[in-house]
Amino acid sequence: MTTRKFFVTTALPYANGNFHIGHIMEYIQADIWVRFQRMQGHSVNFVGADDTHGAPIMIAAEKAGKTPQQFVADIAAGRKPYLEGFHIAFDNWHSTDAPENHAMAQQIYRDLKANGLIASKVIEQFFDPEKNMFLPDRFIKGECPKCHSLDQYGDNCENCGAVYAPTDLINPFSALSGAKPVLKSSEHLFFTLSDPRCVEFLEKWTQDGRLQPEVANKVKEWFSVRTNPDGSTSEGLGDWDISRDAPYFGIEIPDAPGKYFYVWLDAPVGYLASLKNLLDKRGEDFDAYMADPALEQYHFIGKDIVTFHTLFWPAMLHFSGRKTPNSVFVHGFLTVNNGEKMSKSRGTGLDPLKYLSLGMNPEWLRYYIAAKLSARNEDIDFNADDFMARVNSDLIGKYVNIASRAAGFLVKHFAGQLSTTNTTSETWTTESPVLIALGSSGEILESFESREFSKATREIMRVADIVNSYFDRFKPWQLAKDLSKHTELQEVCSNCVRAFQILTVYLSPILPELAQQAYKTMFGIAREPKWEDLRNLADHVAPYQHLMQRVTPEQLDALFEPPALAEPAQAATENVAPGGEAIAPTINIDDFAKIDLRIAKIVNCEAVTGSTKLLRLTLDVGEAQHRNVFSGIASAYKPEDLIGQLTVMVANLAPRKMKFGVSEGMVLAGSHGDEKANPGIYVLTPWPGAVPGMRVR
Ligand code: 2FM
Ligand code: ZN
Repeated sequence: MTTRKFFVTTALPYANGNFHIGHIMEYIQADIWVRFQRMQGHSVNFVGADDTHGAPIMIAAEKAGKTPQQFVADIAAGRKPYLEGFHIAFDNWHSTDAPENHAMAQQIYRDLKANGLIASKVIEQFFDPEKNMFLPDRFIKGECPKCHSLDQYGDNCENCGAVYAPTDLINPFSALSGAKPVLKSSEHLFFTLSDPRCVEFLEKWTQDGRLQPEVANKVKEWFSVRTNPDGSTSEGLGDWDISRDAPYFGIEIPDAPGKYFYVWLDAPVGYLASLKNLLDKRGEDFDAYMADPALEQYHFIGKDIVTFHTLFWPAMLHFSGRKTPNSVFVHGFLTVNNGEKMSKSRGTGLDPLKYLSLGMNPEWLRYYIAAKLSARNEDIDFNADDFMARVNSDLIGKYVNIASRAAGFLVKHFAGQLSTTNTTSETWTTESPVLIALGSSGEILESFESREFSKATREIMRVADIVNSYFDRFKPWQLAKDLSKHTELQEVCSNCVRAFQILTVYLSPILPELAQQAYKTMFGIAREPKWEDLRNLADHVAPYQHLMQRVTPEQLDALFEPPALAEPAQAATENVAPGGEAIAPTINIDDFAKIDLRIAKIVNCEAVTGSTKLLRLTLDVGEAQHRNVFSGIASAYKPEDLIGQLTVMVANLAPRKMKFGVSEGMVLAGSHGDEKANPGIYVLTPWPGAVPGMRVR
């Protein structure tokens, strides 16, 4: 088998709010595909980043009393619990405001300019005389020229659906200051997509079979007659306005003082910037990586941003002399309980962090989404009842059930040894669940490859059904009672356990944790399943250990229960990351009880030769012996400040061997999630009266 080389991305989320379930769905889709490719032994770089620029983010930052940089850093600090929580294994997460992106976007622009594809035109736009800035369409409001509804946006009316230019609004006003906007002209830079070279290239690129058929068809329309916002029509592709005037949070346009790239120019460049950042960290050469003709580049995106990815982005890449994507995989929206679409700004219904904090298994959601997704650009609906039924009946009732039923007999009667014979049934060669399960591998592989995940899960569950009926047919619980039937017992259960391993391989891209857990506990294999394991199945099984809980109706009720009025609104952007990071998923009291916190007295403290960060603390926790603890607090405290003070330590943390000695615990201190921007470390001190050894609870 030849090894393929993939560069895969998901759309870069705007850094003005937390992830909602629509983001998580896209990441799960891409993550399943990436994991599937890796299981085949292919190499994949899977990257993401925050899309940080543009007027809305600049304005939101101002409202929050932060610099745009601080604002987007706070949002970035809240990403981790979502990605880790849903097992989304990006190799890198970066930012479109990073230096790599500034440099690359500017270089792409220079290359396009050198290629004669940048033109300048003077345009008239609404300007807010109080805020001293040009207003994006969304920040101009007024009366709809058609239906006369008040308070409508500058680009279309939410009441009658009319599409118009902001200048058509009656009594327009700035949504920022309330001021009456004035028309002002300014020079803008355009990427001349109307250039015949671009049109010819894009017509080929979008229609050569690389895109999903429904996407290619939609795109085709954009090459013919177009209706402009003012109602007039024009032929074919229009030029693309890529500049914005200061003040703007973005990347400066070379040789154009006071002008910045429109956010959508530098956003997709962020894909490359994140990849470059990853490769640089690994000491690999980005240019060489991209120059490999075997490299396959794919972007997973939603249906609302197809224009940017199938016209502007490939044209930017091609005409700046770069490789274009092999394809763009477009998915539909996710609705919840037949409800409204997950809007970018609102994201209603199913809050992913709440899901995790309720202790709901992330792999339930991964499975459910997989079971709904096809390769087509179609909306899918999250339905609570359907979710519970599928998870409980498919994952627990069909798949996990096989292991829990069959392993016990093998452990009890055969020391876990799997049989190598198959004399059970005359028809076993055609009926053996192992052969049936293996026989599906081609179809399942093809379904994963073509992103037909619902087809893959259907086939996997069809096989699981067959295995369960096979088990029922041979009734191992009866065979076990009759010693003369023990060869048959061993064969039947071995076939089921082997089929279970095969199903585990198939489900591994969707359920990476469960699959690894099953491998470890049942087969003693301490790694992720690989597709080639199908050719070399285990011959021994350990007792079944609990693999997955059922979903309960109470959990779903809690998930969809509206937040109590007293709780802060979920959508507020200001509080997404208190102290620079989002609150971690909820734990229960038993989880907390595992951490043994004790009052400790710092009986000695000294600097550590060779380290600027660490202090060596000698702690009295009321034990016979003192403890030696290294703590990264040298920037904040002098040793003499600490000697004699009480503090709190984690007393049951496994000892850790460090360069300077063994650390036997950890001292607690507060610090901001972004220590660079908000330095300061504050060691905890108990109120007077506490004595060493007291437990903190
Ligand atoms: O629509 C969005 O959410 C954009 N932030 C997607 C950008 S994708 C890529 F171009 F960065
Ligand atoms: Zn209207």
